[in-house]
Order: sequence, then C-alpha cells, then structure tokens
Amino acid sequence: MSNPKRFLSGIQPTNIPHIGNYFGAIKNWVKSQDEGALEAFYFIADLHAITVRQDPLKFKEQIMDCYSLLAAAGLDPDLEKTAIFAQSHVPEHSELAWLLGCFTQFGELSRMTQFKEKSEKSKEGEVNVGLFSYPVLQAADILLYQANYVPVGKDQKQHLELARNIAARFNQAYNDDVFTMPEPYITQNTAKIMSLSDPLKKMSKSDSNPNSCVFLLDDKDTVIKKFKRAVTDSEARVEYRENDETKAGVNNLMSIYGAVTEKSFSDIQKEFDGRGYGDFKTAVGETVFDIIKPIQEKYYTLRSDRTYIDTRMKKGADKAAKAARPTLCKAREKIGFLHYII
Ligand code: TRP
Repeated sequence: MSNPKRFLSGIQPTNIPHIGNYFGAIKNWVKSQDEGALEAFYFIADLHAITVRQDPLKFKEQIMDCYSLLAAAGLDPDLEKTAIFAQSHVPEHSELAWLLGCFTQFGELSRMTQFKEKSEKSKEGEVNVGLFSYPVLQAADILLYQANYVPVGKDQKQHLELARNIAARFNQAYNDDVFTMPEPYITQNTAKIMSLSDPLKKMSKSDSNPNSCVFLLDDKDTVIKKFKRAVTDSEARVEYRENDETKAGVNNLMSIYGAVTEKSFSDIQKEFDGRGYGDFKTAVGETVFDIIKPIQEKYYTLRSDRTYIDTRMKKGADKAAKAARPTLCKAREKIGFLHYII
C-alpha cells in the first residue's frame, strides 16, 4: 500500500481561533482526521509569531491556550496519524529555513503582498529580517514534512506558490525529487464566515470592531450579544439572496446557522418566515453557542492540566521530528555538507 497523503497546517498562537476558523477549517480537519485518510501535522507557528515582539510570559500562555483549543476542538494528539506540536520544538524548521533561504531570491520576497502590506503599516525600525523571510520559514514548514496538501486561504496562496517554486528550484538543482510538491487543500462544503459588523469582509481576529468576530472562548452572553448586534438590513426578511450586497448580513447569518444546524437555506427561510431579525439572531447565537460549549468545557479541563499539555506536546514534537529528519538529512547531503565519520 502506498503511504497515506500528508496534510499540514500551521496556526499562529497570538490569537484565540474564532468561529470562522472553526467552521471554515478546524471542523473539517477533525473530520478528515476521523476518517483516517490522511496523516496530519498541525503546528503552532510560534517562530512565525516572533516577527512581532511578544511578551515572554504571555506568549507561553498563548501557546498553551492555542494547543489546548486545537485538542479541545477534536484534533487528537493521541492518534497515531495526528501530530500536534510547537514549531519551535522541532529545530529542523529553522535549519531548513536557512538552507531554503539560499534558494530564494531577494526579489521574490520583496514581491510578497503580505510583506509589502505589513511593512508599509509598520513604523520605522519595526520591519525586521524575520518579517521579510517569513515565507521562507513557511516553505520550510511545508517541505520538511513532504506535505501533499496545505489548506490555504486567499492571504496564504502566494506563500504556498513560493514554497512550490523553491521546491522545484531545489529539486532541479540536484536533479532529484528531494521535496514533494505541495498542493492547496480545498475544503468542500465549508462555510465562509464573514464579519458580523461588515459582512462584505471575512471574519477576522484583527478587526478593530470587537463585535465583528465571535471567538471560540466567548461566553454565552457575549456570543448572543455579538449576534444581536450583527449588521442586517431594514427588510426584516430571513431570505438568502446570493450576490445581493444589501443582503450580505442576512446571508452570512443564514450561512452560519446552516453550517451549525445543517439545515438548507429554504428550510431556514421557512422556519423564520414572518418573524423578525431579533428572533433569528437569538436563534443563531444560541445554536452557535451550543456547538462551542462542549469545546469550551473540554478546553478548560485540558488547559488546567499542565502535565497533559507538556506530555502531549513533547510526544507531538517527537513524532514531527521523526518525520522531518530524513528530509533535512537528504537536503544537507545534496548541498554537500560533510558527515562526521566517527
Ligand atoms: N502563515 C500562516 C498564517 O499566518 C501560518 C503558517 C505558518 C502556516 N507556517 C505554515 C500555514 C505552513 C500553513 C502551512 O496563517
């Protein structure tokens, strides 16, 4: 039998995932994990996070928060085929990033839209080399595991494209398939969840309006309150109308309600026929909270168990390193580094 395909994704620890991350990505990862078809590597991108200065004490907590939340959402560190770990626990990421940096053009990195946007927004003296070479580290994350699939949103597409170019260049230089060509992983049937305050924009943790985004750890009152304040229209009709911008708010609430209840738009429309938006918004808030409540309960249990976190993270890092080492060795060998002969 051929080896199972490998799936890989990273998440920065600096913010708690929101319902858009959950329904748009994490829920699907759990599903493919449970189907057992893929070997999966999930890591907390703590090396990427230090392109911005982090408070050391807070940073440690955030890494553990993030880890516990992934586990609470259903990614199971005890499964053979799943590895969840912190990127900094596997130093192979940093080493491969250096090697790959020597196969990356200055011009390529200068053209990365995320770099251009972030560096334009930053103050003088805040644009460090880490921010510039961020995509090289990301390429290393991916290529190190010979990942076949990487889920990519629009903002990460260019980074995956770069990883592919670097892989092709390295393979060509040594005329060997050292790195597997990663493909974007397109998830079917996932809801694209938009901001509650500006439904033409994707829900984002960095949105300046605190009501725009529902975090997985928001308490019930906060969840309901955010949905109550969601932007809709003056029509007072729960009806899905694709591509109608005036309906974007209602469309978004219906998508969320549909993702949670697995009801079709026409069923939702019937259910709320003749009822105002108030009722509908409360219903969306309550059903969303019903889904995140068990995740929160599990989260608080895991999060308070430091031994659980430490042992599982160590196990995850060991599993990851075992998968990573052969690739790194091969790359070192191709480049021509000397072996010790003892
Ligand atoms: N840059 C990604 C983000 O901010 C996180 C990330 C780092 C990542 N390395 C990765 C995602 C490798 C996928 C694969 O969302």
